[in-house]
Amino acid sequence: MSLVPVQSIRWVGDMDGHLELLDQTKLPLDVTLLPIRSVDQLFEAIVSLRVRGAPAIGIAAAYGAVISAQKARRLPVADAIKQITNDCETLATSRPTAVNLFWALDRMRAVLKRNPNVASADEIVRALLREALVIHDEDRRMCHTIGEYGADLLDGVTGVLTHCNTGGLATSEYGTALSAIFTAQDRGHTLQVYADETRPLLQGARLTAWELQQRHIPCTLICDSMAAQVMREGRVQAVIVGADRITARGDTANKIGTYGVAILAKHHGIPFYVAAPTSTFDLTIVEGSEIPIEQRKSEEITNAFGRQTAPTGIDVYNPAFDVTPAELITAIVTERGIIAPVTEDHVRQMVK
Ligand code: MRU
Repeated sequence: MSLVPVQSIRWVGDMDGHLELLDQTKLPLDVTLLPIRSVDQLFEAIVSLRVRGAPAIGIAAAYGAVISAQKARRLPVADAIKQITNDCETLATSRPTAVNLFWALDRMRAVLKRNPNVASADEIVRALLREALVIHDEDRRMCHTIGEYGADLLDGVTGVLTHCNTGGLATSEYGTALSAIFTAQDRGHTLQVYADETRPLLQGARLTAWELQQRHIPCTLICDSMAAQVMREGRVQAVIVGADRITARGDTANKIGTYGVAILAKHHGIPFYVAAPTSTFDLTIVEGSEIPIEQRKSEEITNAFGRQTAPTGIDVYNPAFDVTPAELITAIVTERGIIAPVTEDHVRQMVK
């Protein structure tokens, strides 16, 4: 297999440019680049997980505000601002759980507020593009720093288990939990990674296994239900996952199945690490029960990937995320440092 650099999001060109997404629904078989030129197209891409992963949807939405501004270019400034604000509100309804989406859109709206007296809509496009590029670049840097801290935690570990996909596809470049593994590799410390396949949409099988293969990192794919056995056999000495929203007390929403893995890790005395940039924290809420959990279509379970695998008409429950309570988390790795033990005081000190 040839090496394909993972860049899931790219702004092509300048003020007249467009967004380009690596269509994650086509992986691992096809690397397809998807030009995005309208807010509707971007909305569809986020909902259908062509772009996915908490930081990545935040970055993509930031560029969505730029696309909106391009379309509003011929309007009087006040009307343009109104239209962009409406489009930001629409994008905010695409997925409810990952707070990075709202964080990024808030930053884009703050640009509009800071520039109420601009002379032309062109200036708005310029200011929004500048902010989107900054958000993108900040994420790149945060991910690399998370990798450094995370790799320190993995010192001495030979086998590590991860759930869902947290690499370059889910972020700007290096990822969060996978960044720790990539950084360890850069330091000459090769880990054996056990990747949960991540039912029902197989982000682990389709995306994590693919990313690890791209980097020649040993990866063993397992069904989610095999994690307990892998732990009992002593194959992993650490678990590291990403996050979609972390509350002030450290309760962490991540891909459905993460909570179960955390309980298993506790039972087997294995440290359970969460890696996430500070853009993933939501200090306005304390309890994990306050995090909105996205409910997705039943067909993802009954008819995923082109074949019906359950009886017609069966009742289905399909929450896309669950919440791991802080008590089960050994440490949270951020770009500002490591939060451990995970308490409200420590979270607030680190994130502010
Ligand atoms: O539904 P998805 O694929 O967007 O869910 C993604 C996850 O749960 C990731 O673990 C999380 O966003 C962290 S990405 C660095």
